[in-house]
Amino acid sequence: MSKETLTIRDNRTGQEMVLPIQQGTSGPPVVDITKLYKNFGLFTFDPGFRATASCESKITFIDGDQGILLYRGYPIDQLAEKSTFLEVCYLLMHGELPNQNQFDDYVKLVTEHTMLHEQILNFYRGYRRDAHPMAIMVGVVGALSAFYHDSLDVHDPRHREISAFRLIAKIPTIAAASYKYSIGQPFVYPRNDLSYSENFLHMLFSGPCQEYTVSPAMARAMDIIMILHADHEQNASTSTVRLAGSSLANPFAAISAGIGALWGPAHGGANEAVLNMLHQIGDEDNIGAFVKRAKDPNDPFRLMGFGHRVYKNYDPRAKVLQKAAYDVLEEVGRHDDPLLKIAQKLEKIALEDDYFVKRKLYPNVDFYSGIILSAMGLPTSMFTVIFAVSRTIGWISQWMEMISQEGQAIGRPRQLYTGTAQRDYIPLDKRA
Ligand code: ACO
Repeated sequence: MSKETLTIRDNRTGQEMVLPIQQGTSGPPVVDITKLYKNFGLFTFDPGFRATASCESKITFIDGDQGILLYRGYPIDQLAEKSTFLEVCYLLMHGELPNQNQFDDYVKLVTEHTMLHEQILNFYRGYRRDAHPMAIMVGVVGALSAFYHDSLDVHDPRHREISAFRLIAKIPTIAAASYKYSIGQPFVYPRNDLSYSENFLHMLFSGPCQEYTVSPAMARAMDIIMILHADHEQNASTSTVRLAGSSLANPFAAISAGIGALWGPAHGGANEAVLNMLHQIGDEDNIGAFVKRAKDPNDPFRLMGFGHRVYKNYDPRAKVLQKAAYDVLEEVGRHDDPLLKIAQKLEKIALEDDYFVKRKLYPNVDFYSGIILSAMGLPTSMFTVIFAVSRTIGWISQWMEMISQEGQAIGRPRQLYTGTAQRDYIPLDKRA
């Protein structure tokens, strides 16, 4: 038991409660309330989990005030600059960076699992052509459990690992097929001679009638986007994966639940909103009017891509993406892209404006990612899909950590009940 404690007093009874305080490696200390109900008959109330650590984890750390994001202790900017997405996948999954042999084995395993069971492609054909690619993602990822039953024993570490590899390897193939189906083009099979990002772009943009050469700059930008989105501690979709998985549901079902949570505009859908806003602004001369609207308490309009629940400083991922946006636009010959110009000017104005400074509203990861994805040729409906592909490694790593933790138990929050108290049933013919 921790030596540090917090004593609180119940003013109704005068009873004092001594609660242990636990200190992690970094971050604020947490008050351990696991015995609060058993010993004192009290629940805690924290809708939205604004002040609740829902689990113990060793994977990702965020300091929102300092603008710090670490994967297994490594700063995100160093990983984005020096690493590759698959190396980051290894790091998140295993806790350490791989040596060359470990990395080669890992890449080989992922690469060997990129193809989908042929019958899964038939499964796509049951969807309407105009289905949103995220709707297809939720269904197809959940359906993987119907195709790969040989690795569904969540108590077997080997099964867990096989499922993890299958998910990491197949998610770009599933995402690309969702896109191809939604635009009426034939599915493109993976090419195992390409890197993870190159292969993803190949499956998205190749067609039977036209050769598609993957540009190294595009592949690098895709790799950076995926590194930056790979994990983000206990956000809504990750918490969903953990909660679904805590019932011992198979990982395909748990991750399908996570994809559903990510789909919402308050979570994964914000970069689409940024792009729409930049189009709406349309001209640098209109920025002032939009900033004025964002500051007006009577106007519901907010600057999309600004502010974050956790970051009260510059989102470290947004800094990396700002440069990546330049590189991609340069590559596609759109370095003077009007949307980028509007974004840069908007950012400059907002960062110098008292309203945003006082409220610690800085650009978040979504501010530049939409510009990059759109320059790559992706429609806005695919933005959240790219996020889901990137976040799959975070979800599966968090799921593996949760399922192998000592004392793992089903997640079962309690509630503050404000409904009608107990009453007796009145037969229909006696009711007023
Ligand atoms: N534009 C203008 N004002 C804003 C903005 C914004 N983007 N964000 C917050 N504010 C203001 C609020 O109006 C409020 O002002 P007040 O104190 O005068 O009432 C104050 O800043 C605090 O706002 P909250 O909503 O309490 O901040 P919270 O941390 O709960 O919200 C959120 C964070 C939801 C992300 C918010 O900043 C927002 O709506 N941003 C725009 C949408 C966006 O970019 N979402 C992507 C988030 S990143 C991600 O999910 C991957």
